[in-house]
Amino acid sequence: MATTITITGAGGQIGYALLFRIAAGDMLGPDEHVRLRLLEIPQGLRAAEGAALELQDGAFELLDDVEVTDDAEVGFDGANLALLVGARPRGPGMERGDLLAANGGIFGPQGRAIAAAAASDIRVTVVGNPANTNALIASSSADGVPAERFTALTRLDENRARAQLAQTLGAPVTLVRRVPIWGNHSATQFPDISHATIDGAPVAERLEAAVGDVRAWQEQTFIPRVAKRGAEIIEVRGSSSVASAASATIDHVRDWVHGSDDWTSAGVVSRGEYGVPEGLISSFPVRSSGGAWQIVEGLELDGWARARIDASVAELVDERETVRSLGLI
Ligand code: NAI
Repeated sequence: MATTITITGAGGQIGYALLFRIAAGDMLGPDEHVRLRLLEIPQGLRAAEGAALELQDGAFELLDDVEVTDDAEVGFDGANLALLVGARPRGPGMERGDLLAANGGIFGPQGRAIAAAAASDIRVTVVGNPANTNALIASSSADGVPAERFTALTRLDENRARAQLAQTLGAPVTLVRRVPIWGNHSATQFPDISHATIDGAPVAERLEAAVGDVRAWQEQTFIPRVAKRGAEIIEVRGSSSVASAASATIDHVRDWVHGSDDWTSAGVVSRGEYGVPEGLISSFPVRSSGGAWQIVEGLELDGWARARIDASVAELVDERETVRSLGLI
């Protein structure tokens, strides 16, 4: 048995970085064969076809089949996993409402095609921005598919946050855990270090020794650095985050399928946890077991953290209102 994985926007940059790692077994492990479906729009087909030729030339042992298409129902046929990467970027002079409307035109039909054609165990990860609300649109359009199967990628934000914290502490990133992202994958996101651990112990003392006033460091250095890291990458590299986004997507799906060894972060549907309005796809601290995410409940949040989460969630509520008024959900 092989897992069928549909990647939209497969002819784009993140697609190119993702495909070869999936084929090499980085996402599902060395024992799982994969069938790849590359779904593009007509303008992106040649690039996806080129990637398919290179996949063939990689002679990957785990890669059973590659198919390129611009027909969503063909693309999602029998899919067990869908990585929705292709999205409409913000063009010059485009307002947020225009952006949400343009993406609604992509994620609504894709949600319907998933409901019509995908396998009954389909699990969807939305990478294309605005990821949380795109996931909400797809989920709302996918009649009969449980909302828990639709997630938005916030793992890149978490990986960035862990890396910044590790660097500040002078520690290897693998030792730094429990740095969840709350809210929207946007500049309002809240990377939360209040429960962070280093080698299993709270970071508080070591962090204070390193930065002095921890709250000031969070407000002035850490949070802006994480939230604006995408812009920093564009400025330094001359192009947006690609390999790191693909890598975070691999981390997210691997943990979802095989289980996480500690908390991590994902945009998942709220059932009212932490006062986040029901139905929103918001980032939470999560763990995964049995092939499903569970929100880590019962964490204490002080007033400062609460206000930051509320601000990001308010943005999600606003986006939901906009797509609702456009008739997209
Ligand atoms: P890109 O522009 O290189 O590639 C996008 C591809 O999507 C293009 O080949 C395009 O033809 C295709 N596409 C557009 N509409 C489509 C549709 N309806 N169906 C199938 N394919 C479609 O962009 P890149 O760099 O690969 O980024 C993709 C998305 O990922 C962007 O929206 C970007 O903002 C987002 N992103 C999200 C991150 C996250 O952490 N959630 C991190 C980095 C990027």
